[in-house]
Amino acid sequence: MTTNAFPDGFLWGTATAAYQIEGAVDDDGRTPSIWDTFSHTPGATVRGDTGDIACDHYHRWRDDVDLLEDLGVNAYRFSIAWPRVVPELGGNVNPKGLDFYERIVDELLARAITPVVTLYHWDLPQYLQDLGGWANRDTAHRYGDYVAAVAERLGDRVPYWLTLNEPYCSAFVGHALGQHAPGMRDEATAVRAVHHLLLAHGIGAQRLREQAVAGHVGITCNLTAPYPASATAEDQAAARRLDLVENRMFLDPLFTGAYPPDAAAYFRDVTDFGFVRDGDLATIAAPLDFFGINYYEQHAVLADPDDPVRGWRRVPDPDPTIVGIGVHPEGLRTVLTRVARDYTSVPLVVTETGIALHDYVDPEGRVHDAERIAFYESHIRAARQAIDDGVPLVGFFPWSLLDDFEWSWGYGYRYGMHYVDYATQARIPKDSARWFATVTRANGL
Ligand code: FCB
Repeated sequence: MTTNAFPDGFLWGTATAAYQIEGAVDDDGRTPSIWDTFSHTPGATVRGDTGDIACDHYHRWRDDVDLLEDLGVNAYRFSIAWPRVVPELGGNVNPKGLDFYERIVDELLARAITPVVTLYHWDLPQYLQDLGGWANRDTAHRYGDYVAAVAERLGDRVPYWLTLNEPYCSAFVGHALGQHAPGMRDEATAVRAVHHLLLAHGIGAQRLREQAVAGHVGITCNLTAPYPASATAEDQAAARRLDLVENRMFLDPLFTGAYPPDAAAYFRDVTDFGFVRDGDLATIAAPLDFFGINYYEQHAVLADPDDPVRGWRRVPDPDPTIVGIGVHPEGLRTVLTRVARDYTSVPLVVTETGIALHDYVDPEGRVHDAERIAFYESHIRAARQAIDDGVPLVGFFPWSLLDDFEWSWGYGYRYGMHYVDYATQARIPKDSARWFATVTRANGL
């Protein structure tokens, strides 16, 4: 029987990421990340927006924790900025960088809000990019050192660790599509980056365990629900190829210890996977305590006869949001049940889902975002159905707490449950914030 209540102890949170909200890019010893460099590159972001100031969360974090309390959430996912913690090549740890995150963690714990810490949300130190970034295997080891430094300070207190956010985006959107930092357009480098990111995850997980951290260790992948636009063999094969790139290139190594069987053929023109060394896949596939899923996209896929190797085209959504993707809550259920059925029995967490809107403050000072409420209502329903299907789902984290710097889209697209007036840095709860507070307090819809 379907019930709307969620299991006891279910984690209701919201998610953010360091570069998208903190600002204070020069404070307390922080050095540039690849996103500072990229966002300052002419033409890289809409209107040339950068994260220099963002939501000034670095200075206003305590007020932002108040917002979490108003939302009634019992969890909060945020990320730690590597270039604050290890600002220079050579590994010297910057205590002031760690102090900042320690204050947040302690404040959350004092208010009974469970911290869920992402260790890498795309802000690679620029000094490592200068040595090749994720194309360079050594970056995975440098990442391990950084993780160990964070674990040494916070390992006794943080209940949930996520090694990486969305390696798909870091690798492919950053290295093949050129839309994210470091802004490269080279598929061979992108596939190398996939491997070195996954290796970093494995090494990072190892370092966390060596430090005997008290919390659960996981990773967040963005997964999609691609399906063939027709029943033809060609479209089915195309959907499977897109599924390889978007999903199986990450799920298979993490949970089966091997790249998908069709990966070599798909990428044959660009790489022979010669960067994979003995033992790497065992490191990558070491058991996790939980798995984070960011869900935004389901798409119909058509064969592209002009390119038989890659050979797929996403069918444009008939009813797209402002970022060009549709609203498909059923895809969330598909993704969750698939992972639980085909890959792992560990607890799953929806670490992100959300919708961008052109929100505005009306003359009464209110932000009416009914579309966002409908979005979350349908996705929470889908999550609940997945639990009924037997999926061990333990948490749900809307993206995002605040409007923020949305990467190459800049500040124009708003995802927050709180409207940010960037001129004054005022936060205004949108209708969705008030609505979500009723969900968190009722433990369900
Ligand atoms: C995800 C990112 C997150 C945010 C949302 C909208 O891909 O993880 O930082 O920008 O998209």
